[in-house]
Amino acid sequence: MTTTLALGAEIMPRIDDLAAISESPDGLTRQYLTPEHRRANDLVGRWMGDAGMTVRQDAVGNIVGRYEGTSQGLPAVIIGSHLDTVVMAGKFDGMLGVVTGIACVGELNRQARRLPFAVEVVGFADEEGVRFQSTYLGSRAMAGRFEPELLARRGTDGVSLAEAMTAFGLDPARIGDAARQAEDVLAYLELHIEQGPVLESQDLPVGVVTAISGATRLVVELTGEAGHAGTVPMSLRRDSLAAAAECVLAVERVCSETPNLVGTVGWIDANPGATNVIPGAVCFAVDLRATEDSRRTLALGEITALFESAATRRGIAIDIDKVHEAASVPCDTRLSGIIAGAIERNGWRAHRLPSGAGHDAAAMADLAPVGMIFVRCEGGVSHNPAESITAADAEAGARVLLQVLNDFGENS
Ligand code: HGY
Ligand code: MN
Ligand code: MN
Repeated sequence: MTTTLALGAEIMPRIDDLAAISESPDGLTRQYLTPEHRRANDLVGRWMGDAGMTVRQDAVGNIVGRYEGTSQGLPAVIIGSHLDTVVMAGKFDGMLGVVTGIACVGELNRQARRLPFAVEVVGFADEEGVRFQSTYLGSRAMAGRFEPELLARRGTDGVSLAEAMTAFGLDPARIGDAARQAEDVLAYLELHIEQGPVLESQDLPVGVVTAISGATRLVVELTGEAGHAGTVPMSLRRDSLAAAAECVLAVERVCSETPNLVGTVGWIDANPGATNVIPGAVCFAVDLRATEDSRRTLALGEITALFESAATRRGIAIDIDKVHEAASVPCDTRLSGIIAGAIERNGWRAHRLPSGAGHDAAAMADLAPVGMIFVRCEGGVSHNPAESITAADAEAGARVLLQVLNDFGENS
């Protein structure tokens, strides 16, 4: 194996270059179909070209680089992750996998090496789903699973997905063009920060992902009655924010009582939002995850029943909209074995662990066998500007990913 010491040193500055492309001066926020999305695609597209890849943007705004194999048009191993972020994000979540994939292809290109398959690197356009609550939109479209009803969904700016796509230069009627054929894709590999504390506790730079937890996302609307904060007796109020507070605590209680189940209310919007007005309308989101789908489904039933009884008792109307649901996805055994072997051939113990976080691999599993490599992140912190990894761990991840490409070729 050629020394790849240069890869970590190449990866880290590029992470910073991408982190500078943000819609906010106060931290990293890069949402789907925004000018920042386009700038990130342009920059990553240039890196892909420099690494010897042909580059295209697909019908939903994913940026795709292709490095041919020993002959033109061979089926591909796709390496991917996402280029969009949450609000006030860390700079490695998603971006590390894309930049590391490009670095690995760049190394093959430097060595003028061609594998018995093509290698594609994809920067997915909308994994977080922040703008339209549309998790895995880019990877689902590539897997041929785009849900057309999403097109009518509106972001907080009131712009629909279809309108935003058109404004970005995409044609909502051509989304199907993004779908890949199964026979053209041999496997999907994703390298991603762990976003948890396990590898750090094991003193390991990398690990093998066994499965991706399933998730359910709800948007809940509570409609009571706005009123004067000074005149309405407590017993006569239909206070939507007090009802929402009861719901938030119900999520926390149910999930705290059940192992391997986590629940979060990530945002809440109370209207009209004045100090001296009883909130008449409240909207909030629920994110529910579990390693076992049955556990999540059971908890979902219990939580929604608690929401409805709180609303009824308080004389408040409730609307619960399930905006996202994804089953837990096991990683492919053969691919995971190749990843474990690549980790061991680079001198580390191959620790296997599940992912509580969702990843594009969960959507790409509908198209091809998927395997994931985790890279240690400091304190397990993620979805937070403090998210960080070392250059040495970036190097470790790149070495393992390159080794997997080599070994996949020998095993296919
Ligand atoms: O929410 C997740 O697990 C991922 O960051 N989209
Ligand atoms: Mn994320
Ligand atoms: Mn991610």
